[in-house]
Amino acid sequence: MRIGIIVGSQSSTSINRQVAKALIGLAPEGVEMAEIAWNELPIYTPDYDADYPAAGREWKSAIEASDAIIIVSPEYSRSIPGGLKNALDWAARPWGTNSFNGKPVAILGASGGAIGTAAMQQHLRAILGHFNAITMGQPETFLQITPSSFGANGEVADEALGTILEGYLAAVVAHVERFAQVNA
Ligand SMILES: Cc1cc2nc3c(=O)[nH]c(=O)nc-3n(C[C@H](O)[C@H](O)[C@H](O)COP(=O)(O)O)c2cc1C
Repeated sequence: MRIGIIVGSQSSTSINRQVAKALIGLAPEGVEMAEIAWNELPIYTPDYDADYPAAGREWKSAIEASDAIIIVSPEYSRSIPGGLKNALDWAARPWGTNSFNGKPVAILGASGGAIGTAAMQQHLRAILGHFNAITMGQPETFLQITPSSFGANGEVADEALGTILEGYLAAVVAHVERFAQVNA
């Protein structure tokens, strides 16, 4: 099973990227996980549709080649970061080639606060519904990250966080397998 991870932050100190790396480190047997980057994408405009640039084509191909996608993102101004929204618009176009159509997707978000990313996650669910993605409903997961969550090499230092991430990954794998059975 190949799972692509999309990180909603471009911050060089992103806690959401730390979570993404921790997930990759915790990949269950038989599951291959890697980040799909969107930082090369310019601001989308339909002017690109007639001759989609390489960055857009590669971004779409990487999503389409994945059995599932995990989006791990911060909340910006009670919604998803603008850069992530731009990347999702690139994936949805040109019209009729939506890369998320029928794709199992799971959402995750990390912040320093207790309820951080809850509003972002609801907005992201609405976008993914429009894309006809198969979005995992539960477990909804709002990660509160503190300076002691990760060790010096990015390893998960907080045992409770490790347990949550392992349980989350098990739920994602079950979600993908359930979806595969429905379509068998
Ligand atoms: C432009 C901006 C808007 C933000 N808005 C919110 C918000 O609405 N809710 C929230 O919980 N945190 C908000 N934050 C704080 C982020 O949750 C925090 O910076 C987090 O560490 C960003 O994730 P990252 O480290 O993965 O980049 C905002 C941060 C920025 C830079």
